[in-house]
Amino acid sequence: MTSKRDNFGSRFAVIMAMAGSAVGLGNIWRFPYMVGQHGGAAFIIVYIVCCLVVSLPIFFSEAIIGKAGRADTYGAIEKLAPGSKLKNVSYLAILASFVILSFYSVVGGWSFDYLLRACFGGFNGRSLDEAKEIFTGISASPVENISCMLVFLGLTALIVVAGVEKGIGRFSKYSIPVLFLMVVLIAVESLTLPGAQKGVEYLLKPDFSKLDGPAIAAALGQSFFSLSLGVGTVLTYSSYMKEEHSVLFTGGWTAFFDTVFALVAGIAIMPAVFAAGIEPSAGPSLVFETLPVIFSKMGIVLPIIFFLAILIAALSSSISMLEVVVAWLVDQKHLSRSKATLLVFLCAALLGASCAVAPRVFSACDLLSSNVLMMIGALTFAVVVGWKMPREQVLGFVKYRTIYRLIRYAAPLMIIAIAISNLL
Ligand code: PFF
Repeated sequence: MTSKRDNFGSRFAVIMAMAGSAVGLGNIWRFPYMVGQHGGAAFIIVYIVCCLVVSLPIFFSEAIIGKAGRADTYGAIEKLAPGSKLKNVSYLAILASFVILSFYSVVGGWSFDYLLRACFGGFNGRSLDEAKEIFTGISASPVENISCMLVFLGLTALIVVAGVEKGIGRFSKYSIPVLFLMVVLIAVESLTLPGAQKGVEYLLKPDFSKLDGPAIAAALGQSFFSLSLGVGTVLTYSSYMKEEHSVLFTGGWTAFFDTVFALVAGIAIMPAVFAAGIEPSAGPSLVFETLPVIFSKMGIVLPIIFFLAILIAALSSSISMLEVVVAWLVDQKHLSRSKATLLVFLCAALLGASCAVAPRVFSACDLLSSNVLMMIGALTFAVVVGWKMPREQVLGFVKYRTIYRLIRYAAPLMIIAIAISNLL
């Protein structure tokens, strides 16, 4: 039975939607610092190898399940691995999407808050200490925190409720190229600052002596998180591909775009940080304390562009997580798209509000999803494709035997290795 299923329309929309899911806060606040700390260009080479050998094969597994199963995460696995218990494990991937959506929305809310502040020149003439106070003030204010989170989650829901082609596809097609241009513009500005050279060296100068075990584990973990693997986003989006859209092509372009974006983000951030004579860092303190001060010294427009970029990057990722849960409710529980979206919005708002007011809940959600649920999800997808689906069917999607072997042997082993190293 071939039922009519929504699709993204064009190949460009598929790739932009996948790239939108991949490009997110991880590319901006984690990748550049990680590269600088672990040996610059030497780390970038290891990162690319990790993408090619481990993360891309997992991406292909998820995409194959979605495209061949043409259903949500649970339904597709049930179809492709009939009679196996693996479909029950898929609940963990759907749960991971929901949990990440909830705490990601808190950060998305901060970006919205900062965009508004930047529009009113809120960072002009501020010192680093004052910027820290602003951020501490927001984190400590439940009303501001929760209302901004709700705005962000509301925007996410509006895009998803508009449908696959008219909502997610259209948003991604227009916003991702603009996002890329915005980051290129910041990079150009940042490179022209006096002292920017040191930032470029920090990011690109190869230092092979820093390539130790933790550096390799970091590269693997980051490539994994950055491609949004193991939570069903790639799977669900692939279920909306048309017959003629290729899994190999989509995966290749998504990984390429994600890596290039992360590098350009590094060039936008690190030269400016070094030019200001500030120690490089990562995470919320970089984006919400250090960078607003640095960028506001470069004119009133730059902070606006920067926070708009963060907001788009976060939104294009959050819509993919919401879609995983909505697709499951629509396909398995037969809810309408609007009812499903509203239901997930309300539940995510509850968990998101808890994350917004309780930092411990926030970090528990982060740890649980990235270190445990994503790994179990990815392992499940690799096992379904490598061990449950007929070899010929898989080869029909990936063409090359080497890729099949990577999915069957290398990917599961490496996932177990990353999971162990994350827990150490
Ligand atoms: N890939 C996103 C980032 O690098 O920020 C994070 C992410 C998005 C993880 C979507 C999982 C997901 F479903």
